[in-house]
Amino acid sequence: MTDFVRGLFPRTRLRRLRRFDWSRRLVAESMLSIDDLIWPVFVHPGSGTQPIDSLPGVDRLGTDRVVDAAKRAVDLGIPAIAVFPATPPELKTADAAEAINPNNLVCQTVRAIKQAVGDSLGVICDVALDPYSIHGHDGIVRDGDVVNDETVDMLRKQTIIQADAGCDVIAPSDMMDGRIGAIRDALESAGHNNVQVMSYAAKYASAFYGPFRDAVGSKGNLGGASKKTYQQSPAQGDEALQEVALDLAEGADTVMVKPGMPYLDIVSRVKATFNVPTFVYQVSGEYAMLSAAGQLGWLDRKQVALESLLGFKRAGADGILTYFAPEAAEWLSE
Ligand code: PBG
Repeated sequence: MTDFVRGLFPRTRLRRLRRFDWSRRLVAESMLSIDDLIWPVFVHPGSGTQPIDSLPGVDRLGTDRVVDAAKRAVDLGIPAIAVFPATPPELKTADAAEAINPNNLVCQTVRAIKQAVGDSLGVICDVALDPYSIHGHDGIVRDGDVVNDETVDMLRKQTIIQADAGCDVIAPSDMMDGRIGAIRDALESAGHNNVQVMSYAAKYASAFYGPFRDAVGSKGNLGGASKKTYQQSPAQGDEALQEVALDLAEGADTVMVKPGMPYLDIVSRVKATFNVPTFVYQVSGEYAMLSAAGQLGWLDRKQVALESLLGFKRAGADGILTYFAPEAAEWLSE
């Protein structure tokens, strides 16, 4: 660090460059742009919108509304949307069979979006069983254990029906071992060689997913159970690098760190170590806490949202999944 010290006070005054907006803009190292944003949306099988109490400002969208959202994303210049289904409880089963129904809500939604906006918007689909299982786990449960290899078989099938529906990016969020390779091979065999794989590579067992589980209706199913046997412990840093290394070796095109704000060190290490497109997910609980404090008047919603998003860029993220995406796009184009 001393190498970089140009001189001592008063010759060096770091405040000189901070004095005017033009100067602060000129020396800015990091920049947030609309091109960095991915908008996660929740869909429900009916029409119209349904509020989600723990995600103020985010609604579950009917298939009619989700097409409007996709068009809005295109108009705003947001590159991609990620679609998450709120599966009706009567369609949830122990084997999560609805996950591989080619006519399920996600597939219908993807087809509707693609018909409306074509290639002007990337469509990302999660691969995991939790929106479809009665136990709320991301995989198949046998004797209380989330079984890895059998789950991976299901995930391959889920991948193919979603790719057949027109999904551009498959995003495995399940954290089973070996799933990226299996999914990549399945895509290649099915002729989907151009479908991208965005791996939720370093995904932590986090309490910040609470509002998402409300949104897709899996919280009740999961009950008090945790996902600690497959998602990473928040204590782990090196392990995140191992996860990323394996996922890249298995064929991931891009990798993701999740959640975001408590894991900026991981974003930074992943980007610095691998130099591959690195995404970060500012998850539901992060959005909820900033929104709630904004509603209470304790924090300035716009300022904290933009600051948190810029922080991801500074840490090294190439793109950000955030529920603030449409608002942020509007703020950025003001
Ligand atoms: C499903 C999945 C989750 C999220 C994205 N995909 C929840 C979980 O793993 O329990 C969380 C996203 C958020 O909280 O915004 N596997």
